[in-house]
Amino acid sequence: MFEELLRGWDGEHVVVRHDPPSGAWMFVCVHSTRLGPAMGGTRLKAYPTPADALEDGMRLAGGMTRKLAVVGLPCGGGKAVLAVSEVPAGDARRQLLERYAALVDSLGGTFVTGPDVNTGEADMDVIGDRTPHVFCRSAANGGSGDPSIHTALGVFHGIKASLGQALGSDDPAGRTVLVQGAGHVGANLARLLADAGATVLVSDLDGERARATGATVVPADAALESDCDVYAPCALGATLGAESIPRLRCRIVAGAANNQLATPEDGERLRAAGILYAPDYVINSGGALHGIGLERLGWDRDRLEREVEGIGATLTRVYTEADAEGISTDAAAERLAARRLRESREVELGA
Ligand code: PHE
Repeated sequence: MFEELLRGWDGEHVVVRHDPPSGAWMFVCVHSTRLGPAMGGTRLKAYPTPADALEDGMRLAGGMTRKLAVVGLPCGGGKAVLAVSEVPAGDARRQLLERYAALVDSLGGTFVTGPDVNTGEADMDVIGDRTPHVFCRSAANGGSGDPSIHTALGVFHGIKASLGQALGSDDPAGRTVLVQGAGHVGANLARLLADAGATVLVSDLDGERARATGATVVPADAALESDCDVYAPCALGATLGAESIPRLRCRIVAGAANNQLATPEDGERLRAAGILYAPDYVINSGGALHGIGLERLGWDRDRLEREVEGIGATLTRVYTEADAEGISTDAAAERLAARRLRESREVELGA
């Protein structure tokens, strides 16, 4: 299984460690260091098999390379996955993270990590005790803190740009947005949209979490088929595939989750269905801008907010290019990322 996955991957390398005390598998997927050290979050999650975790990590790492290239940061892309049988708490969690931090440290800065699904500020603090190669520790520990407010803000600007493209006005007032997933990013996004006058529907497998947003709650199993202008997936990935796309009743898909498309063909499927798709790794780049901008590039909060607002303009560029070329928005984003990677190569070679 591992052999096949690795042979089919276009990334640089994967560091694999089995962790006997916990039974966890650790995969650090370094997809590209062409633009700089590989950066990406650490995902802590239970998977059916270790190969599923490796596959997820490899795909997510490729997404990070494209994300950071598209938004123009001098960084490569990677992702780490800690595949556990059950998400640990307390001492077991701390010890697992300490052993993982030693692994990150041993890579000498080739890979720099941050939070992702099921990891946050407190976990970054634990990792930061053992290695400097970590973003988004708490402010008390010298980090930039929870990035999810800026992920949400970037998605908000991305939704506005998408409304402008698809419906002729970028004003969210009076539009209906379905936010699927009421975690940190989804809940913040729901609030930004409500403040801007949108009608916000929220769904979450955890009904209590959905209710806490104060928005209208839609049952989780009805989310996909809800009538809305914008469907914003902010839960786990791969919700868009051959089976789900025909059931959508929205004009726009624009949300924070990584890996929203089950396969690359699904970008084309959305285009054929007349649905504008905001490529996930473009619209959700606000979190990475937060960690990397504040901690590596010396940005202040004003600069960060301007850059996050710029996600809207980047998306508009992707949409314009997709229109002009008659290709899916996903393919257009891919081209933009590839161009950035190639240009940097030419500069390097003096071409
Ligand atoms: N989870 C973030 C993302 O997918 C990863 C990240 C956060 C990377 C902060 C770097 C800094 O973009």
